[in-house]
Amino acid sequence: MKIAVMPGDGIGPEITAQAVKVLEALKTDGLQVEFEHALIGGAAYRATGVPLPESTVALAQASDAVLFGAVGDFSLDTLPRHLRPEQAILGIRKALNLFANFRPAMVYSELADASTLRPEVVAGLDILIVRELTGDIYFGTPRGHRIAEDGPFKGEREAFDTMRYAETEIRRIAHVAFQAARKRGGKLCSVDKANVLETTQFWRDVVTEVGKEYADVELSHMYVDNCAMQLLKNPKQFDVIVTGNLFGDILSDEASMLTGSIGMLPSASLNESNFGLYEPIHGSAPDIAGKDLANPMATVLSAAMMLRYTFGLEEYASRIEKAVQTVLASGPRTGDIWREGKERTGTSGMGDAIVAALARQ
Ligand code: NAI
Ligand code: MG
Repeated sequence: MKIAVMPGDGIGPEITAQAVKVLEALKTDGLQVEFEHALIGGAAYRATGVPLPESTVALAQASDAVLFGAVGDFSLDTLPRHLRPEQAILGIRKALNLFANFRPAMVYSELADASTLRPEVVAGLDILIVRELTGDIYFGTPRGHRIAEDGPFKGEREAFDTMRYAETEIRRIAHVAFQAARKRGGKLCSVDKANVLETTQFWRDVVTEVGKEYADVELSHMYVDNCAMQLLKNPKQFDVIVTGNLFGDILSDEASMLTGSIGMLPSASLNESNFGLYEPIHGSAPDIAGKDLANPMATVLSAAMMLRYTFGLEEYASRIEKAVQTVLASGPRTGDIWREGKERTGTSGMGDAIVAALARQ
């Protein structure tokens, strides 16, 4: 199995190195992986003049999965949009047709005190948000600016985007979500705004149709505004949430805050054949880059998701997750999750602690 490693910018190289270290450690127990590195984001721009070189896309296509760090470099923010580091992640998702974004939000019992919510609301939380990633208002046509031709603002400048979903796009993400729900707690909540938006009424209709093929999964529907509230009020009512690109972007960032630190949350973006790009949900954190301060757990847990979703290696995946839990319970911690009474460590030390916990299993 060949893994393309794309560290990117800021803390990207430090955190991906820890995930590679953990996967390397599993080689002694029979995991067969090889790694090839490629430049992406600001690092690629500096070396080649573009944030997403063709050779990087080609390496991803020639690999079985991608392990991605983060892109983003404030010193390049004055570049035109198409040369900005962040274009690389949008570009590679599109080039690889990664339409299904999985963002689990888990609260480890050892970390329940790190959430901003009351511990009893989040303790034991384990939800999965499945976000459609290549359609919706982010990719609608036409998009643009113009002078309004009619209505109360006639003659003024206006801007517009169009929200659209084709049946195929909804069906395929619905299937992915139902299958994920089937493997977990058997509950799927589809989130929309069907009371106001035609596109999302269509979404609700198609998800309901697909649901007929999954009699063992309990399907419910919820309006997005209510969901935003319920995620804070009683997040444990959810098992799997499926939603469109726009609502999923916002709800998954909200859900990340239930868990305490952004440095804990992994994600997977998959295409139809389970090829995937795996990355922490956080960015390149330039404020702490190069200082051995970043929490590598989100990236290590992303590698576990890779083993589960792309390679079907459930056993290795849960071994990594258990090792992370062991470290949370009794090992050293990076600053973002450090508490009185715990040993403090850095990015690399946390990677070493996870490897040591694996070896003790
Ligand atoms: P960020 O997620 O990089 O950082 C937000 C805050 O969280 C910072 O205080 C940072 O130090 C902290 N943080 C993030 N990851 C951490 C970790 N592993 N351990 C400990 N603390 C951590 O978001 P920000 O600052 O808004 O963006 C920085 C850059 O990252 C920007 O250029 C942005 O465009 C880019 N970005 C890239 C993403 C990607 O590559 N998928 C996603 C989000 C942002
Ligand atoms: Mg976001």
